[in-house]
Amino acid sequence: MTAYSQLLETLPASPKTWLITGVAGFIGSNLLEHLLKLNQRVVGLDNFATGHQHNLDEVQQLVTPEQWAGFSFIEGDIRNLDDCHQACAGVDYVLHQAALGSVPRSINDPITTNGTNISGFLNMLVAARDAKVKSFTYAASSSTYGDHPALPKVEENIGKPLSPYAVTKYVNELYADVFAKTYGFNTIGLRYFNVFGKRQDPNGAYAAVIPKWTASMIQGEEVFINGDGETSRDFCFIENTVQMNLLAATAPSDAKNEVYNVAVGDRTTLNDLFHALQSALAENGKPYEARAVYRDFRAGDVRHSQADIGKAVSKLGYAPQYRIMDGIAKAMPWYIENVG
Ligand SMILES: NC(=O)c1ccc[n+]([C@@H]2O[C@H](COP(=O)([O-])OP(=O)(O)OC[C@H]3O[C@@H](n4cnc5c(N)ncnc54)[C@H](O)[C@@H]3O)[C@@H](O)[C@H]2O)c1
Repeated sequence: MTAYSQLLETLPASPKTWLITGVAGFIGSNLLEHLLKLNQRVVGLDNFATGHQHNLDEVQQLVTPEQWAGFSFIEGDIRNLDDCHQACAGVDYVLHQAALGSVPRSINDPITTNGTNISGFLNMLVAARDAKVKSFTYAASSSTYGDHPALPKVEENIGKPLSPYAVTKYVNELYADVFAKTYGFNTIGLRYFNVFGKRQDPNGAYAAVIPKWTASMIQGEEVFINGDGETSRDFCFIENTVQMNLLAATAPSDAKNEVYNVAVGDRTTLNDLFHALQSALAENGKPYEARAVYRDFRAGDVRHSQADIGKAVSKLGYAPQYRIMDGIAKAMPWYIENVG
């Protein structure tokens, strides 16, 4: 029995109160769905900067009315300390997901990304510390590895950040560490590697590669590959990410004040990803015959990314259940139903 399956058995019998910031976003709404299905009480905080009411509506359809009654939503902003204090009141476990994602967004508008990802993060740390929550788990990022060339990525070896976004996520880790030293407030940072799955937004200039390409293919539009297509990533299906959040939130104290890679340990090039999406669509009766269009490399992008997940496996009992092809197969019907 894995640590996660054990947790899934014990949690429903002892409901706790969870705060999910960024609850209307991709990862936040998937966390919400899982926690409500486990009969937990959830407080959600979001300002709809990039999240959507329709994500919350979809979760409502997927849980029972009794489970949905366990959810309370605060429309608020993590840049406002009062909103953070209100959201943290009476909470056991914080899963802090709210941030402005996307490397290009941060290059175009570093000030707004900084405000949410650093000042907002600091507000959440202060509010969670004041509320004496049992644990604080936050979304860190693989972008923190920056220009460090080693593969696979091991938590203690990082390079220099390559974008304003990467700076903000690294500063989160520095603040988290200082809060442990100065206030004894211990946290866990989860360095996500390219998460994907249902409810990841396919729209807008800053969409992530899997939803963006999938939507373009479904709509018969051109798919652009930045660079030569040999750029690689460790794509991590959302179910693995949910598992890590739940394990981290309930981890014993010797596993805290640490950061962990959240990935699978695989490496997939963009060229391979393109073909994988093509074949998954063909299997779902939506063939896409066109070739990809190659264009310039994108500023700020890391060339290769692949995680060593050994620390998460040994300290948290993490056991990823989905590799990239399993995740694409699960996510594809949702995209076919929801795009266009
Ligand atoms: N998706 C990935 O591959 C990935 C990789 C690394 C790190 N992350 C991190 O994971 C977290 C969640 O990402 P996601 O992919 O679900 O993105 P998302 O954009 O779908 O979700 C982010 C949510 O935060 C909310 N938000 C933004 N600014 C806010 C503010 N000031 N106050 C309150 N709410 C605010 C947005 O409205 C949105 O609902 C982010 O911290 C992101 O940086 C994601």
